[in-house]
Amino acid sequence: MAAAKRVALLGPPGAGKGTVAKRIVERFGIVHLSTGDILRDEVARGTELGRAAKSTMDRGELVPDELIVDMIRGRIEAAESGFLLDGFPRTIAQAESLETISDLDAVISIDLPREDVVARLTARRVCVECGRIYNLTFRPPEDPSRCDVCGGTLIQRDDDKEDVIRNRYDVYQTSTSPLLEFYELRGLLRRVDGRSGTDEVFGRIVEILAG
Ligand code: AP5
Repeated sequence: MAAAKRVALLGPPGAGKGTVAKRIVERFGIVHLSTGDILRDEVARGTELGRAAKSTMDRGELVPDELIVDMIRGRIEAAESGFLLDGFPRTIAQAESLETISDLDAVISIDLPREDVVARLTARRVCVECGRIYNLTFRPPEDPSRCDVCGGTLIQRDDDKEDVIRNRYDVYQTSTSPLLEFYELRGLLRRVDGRSGTDEVFGRIVEILAG
């Protein structure tokens, strides 16, 4: 059976989507499309979209569906070798729009309870240069202010403050978790326990996608 090449990764904030996504796209030769990363790049470059999205992201709310779908559509269509969607879709409306853009082979949800989410995200640090993700508790860098790989500065994301993290989790429960039933009904959903170590989560997803 051919490996799944058109994949969406769901899960609450901090579930480990970005961490595992980088390894999955290398293994399967597909393109990583993270709506969060694309939006943060728009914010850093001060584009019109970045300026429109910044305050919404800082509050942990969702950017309007039309902006997100317009932003991602062309990237999905251009990903001829396949894609891993990370953080999209996030609402039923986005999932319905996605159905007009491309079929999916699999949808994976990495599940993680609320208190684990808070513990992980308050300790997350990200390299400003290469985007590598660290955790001061679970995956500490040698020097807490520098990336082990490229030496870039490690920062805390603007939305990784405890009150914003809790709001992001609530927004996930209200707006995104209905997608679990949406994809279950289409026979596409597979669930992975995000409390396992990163190697175990990666191995489980590889097994699912390899078919
Ligand atoms: P986005 O960037 O997508 O954020 P998110 O979904 O909240 O997810 P995170 O990036 O916080 O977590 P992750 O699951 O990738 O975890 P990570 O691997 O880093 O979105 C940000 C914002 O953009 C949204 O709030 C919204 O405003 C906007 N947005 C984006 N997409 C949108 C859309 N489609 N529609 C509308 N708005 C949108 O891991 C977390 C930490 O845990 C790290 O420190 C890591 O080292 C550690 N870790 C990871 N795995 C493990 C493990 N197995 N064990 C122990 N530690 C682990």
